Amino acid sequence: MGSGIAEACVRSGHPVWLRVRTDRSGQAARAYVERTLARDLGRGTIGQEEHDAAIDRLTVTTRLEDLAGCDLVIESVVEDLAVKRHLFSELDQLLDPEALLATNTSTLAVTSLAAATKRPDKVVGIHFFNPVSRLSLVEVVRTLVVSEETLEEASAFARSLGKEPITVADEAGFVVNALLFPYLNSAVRLLERRVASMEDIDRAMKLGCSFPIGPFALLDLVGLDVAQAILGELYQETGDQAALAAPTIKRMCAAGYLGKKTGRGFYTY
Ligand SMILES: NC(=O)c1ccc[n+]([C@@H]2O[C@H](COP(=O)([O-])OP(=O)(O)OC[C@H]3O[C@@H](n4cnc5c(N)ncnc54)[C@H](O)[C@@H]3O)[C@@H](O)[C@H]2O)c1
Repeated sequence: MGSGIAEACVRSGHPVWLRVRTDRSGQAARAYVERTLARDLGRGTIGQEEHDAAIDRLTVTTRLEDLAGCDLVIESVVEDLAVKRHLFSELDQLLDPEALLATNTSTLAVTSLAAATKRPDKVVGIHFFNPVSRLSLVEVVRTLVVSEETLEEASAFARSLGKEPITVADEAGFVVNALLFPYLNSAVRLLERRVASMEDIDRAMKLGCSFPIGPFALLDLVGLDVAQAILGELYQETGDQAALAAPTIKRMCAAGYLGKKTGRGFYTY
């Protein structure tokens, strides 16, 4: 998701410092951005000049300190509250006091991340969808403590990327994932009850509901570990049985079958 967000930003004219933890993930992130832009150049949706300018706007770094001059930082690390809170407190000390701190979390309490900083009014959720280059929705998350100005800036930023922002309350799953993940989880339970094969369930939702992608292909795209974390948050906050992760999801995470990113999930890649 971090690479996808960086690509959307450089394409729209924003200079980006993409901070990664290792040189290896930095190379992978740069390769992703270059591949996506090259694809669009090949299709003729962007010209050579636009392509080259976008590539020039991207700087990949492993040093958090390199973000010190940024006026907006969008965090998109692992879906773990403790990890994100730690990062937010580090960024809070590093950044200019006027800078905005945003999170791409799918379900975690953005208010709790705001509370890890001394600028809670400048902390906001800017939630993108996967793949970022294709999906135009952005959920802008209104915490208990955010200022109207921050919300407006976050929405304006999303629009500057050609996205369509909607403002949502800081509740687990916001709008899309609160509706989507109980459905994805229910598909896994149907499979566990052998109601139909995985391929046929995917086909059913595509052909019967005009969904662009079936639930198993979508779980593989999202990542089983991310799905498990999202379901865990949803269940904890709502107590809704539909969000209680199906055993298959837990076992697949334990086995490291996390979906497309590991080459194996419900399908093999
Ligand atoms: N996958 C999706 O479809 C999707 C969609 C929207 C939002 N999100 C959100 O985006 C965020 C990232 O998800 P993803 O799918 O890109 O996950 P991912 O597993 O592909 O990437 C997670 C990144 O976090 C880094 N990371 C792991 N542990 C870390 C630590 N302790 N400190 C710093 N960095 C660490 C990893 O190196 C990796 O680069 C999550 O908050 C997730 O909820 C995901």
